[in-house]
Amino acid sequence: MIPKEIRKDIFWVGSIHWERRLFDELIPLPDGTSYNAYFVKGENANALIDTVDPEKSYELFQHFAVLEVEKLDYIVINHAEQDHSGTLPDLVEMYPEATVVTNKKCAGLLETHHHIPGSRIKIIEDREKLDLGGKVLEFILTPWVHWPETMSTYLHNENILFSCDFFGSHMATSSLWVEEEFKVLEDAKRYYAEIMMPFRTHIQKNLNALADFEIDVIAPSHGPLWQDPSIIMDAYCRWTDEDEIEKHVLIPYVSMHDSTRYMVELLVDALMIRGIKVTPYDLTKSDLGEIAMHAVDASAIIVGTPTVLAGPHPSVVHAVYVIGALRPKTKYMGIIGSFGWGGKTVDILAELLKNVKAEILEPLLIKGFPTEDDVEKIEEFADLIRDKVME
Ligand code: FEO
Repeated sequence: MIPKEIRKDIFWVGSIHWERRLFDELIPLPDGTSYNAYFVKGENANALIDTVDPEKSYELFQHFAVLEVEKLDYIVINHAEQDHSGTLPDLVEMYPEATVVTNKKCAGLLETHHHIPGSRIKIIEDREKLDLGGKVLEFILTPWVHWPETMSTYLHNENILFSCDFFGSHMATSSLWVEEEFKVLEDAKRYYAEIMMPFRTHIQKNLNALADFEIDVIAPSHGPLWQDPSIIMDAYCRWTDEDEIEKHVLIPYVSMHDSTRYMVELLVDALMIRGIKVTPYDLTKSDLGEIAMHAVDASAIIVGTPTVLAGPHPSVVHAVYVIGALRPKTKYMGIIGSFGWGGKTVDILAELLKNVKAEILEPLLIKGFPTEDDVEKIEEFADLIRDKVME
């Protein structure tokens, strides 16, 4: 791994984690990821902006060896999560002269998670500047993307925004810069959906705060760098806008003995006939991250479940729990499924969805395998969904 020069005396010194397939033991990473760290050399001082996941610390040190970094003045930490701060304990030992620069909340988390003493940390305020000599950093508090302490660092004159998770994408690529815009946007949307979607009101405020800055490059801490920041910033504006809804129905479901599957197939066909975009996801085979990504702007989510142990299938509970926690801007939610003799499916799922501000449609649960009457009910349900989605 070698450093990549972004501009004169500004280097990418990160790591590409090609083979990683799971983050937080929860989030699927179909395209791997990267941990982007940046090294900025001023006339009087230098600074490292963020670090890398501890599993890849050796790659950051390889970069430092190539760049002959014998003395490190500042380590800017935009975010305390371990994939960006995990090499910090080693760095403060290796470079006893280095000052850690971050905001007050982040300093607290660095002490909590890494036992970094407060004496090593310089606390900065929102919009405070740090002059490295010919290179001036400005710190912008951008909280809740996706922890409370997250911030961004802006490099004046070069107009580079080091945004950490904000605008990032879990994507391993040898390209420093965004090349396949569509693909990077898809991974960025997936990433936004998985960790930032519940905080979209905060994110809108952060987007407004960034309007004060002329930004030529966005250098996030995951995925390639944006040379045309308007693409990803416009996408974030759309994703966080409550009114930017696609007429799209998602149907995550599980079926044990084909009754629920038949209901889902009938509903999918009925919606297609009515001209509504619809996507079913068999939860035993689907990537939950993909469902989250589509939930960013889907107008309706209809959950399909059989009844097992007197309630919804556990895989459906898992998916609905995640949807409830992500609080998408989806306008309508519904439950369909089959039961043998009873259960509390609706009560259990409704409790998990109580934080989603969607209208909950009347559930459609049928006994056993659908009859002709049930088929008619599914047609009526499709009419209802069409009317709601097309409103
Ligand atoms: Fe990439 Fe929130 O860490």
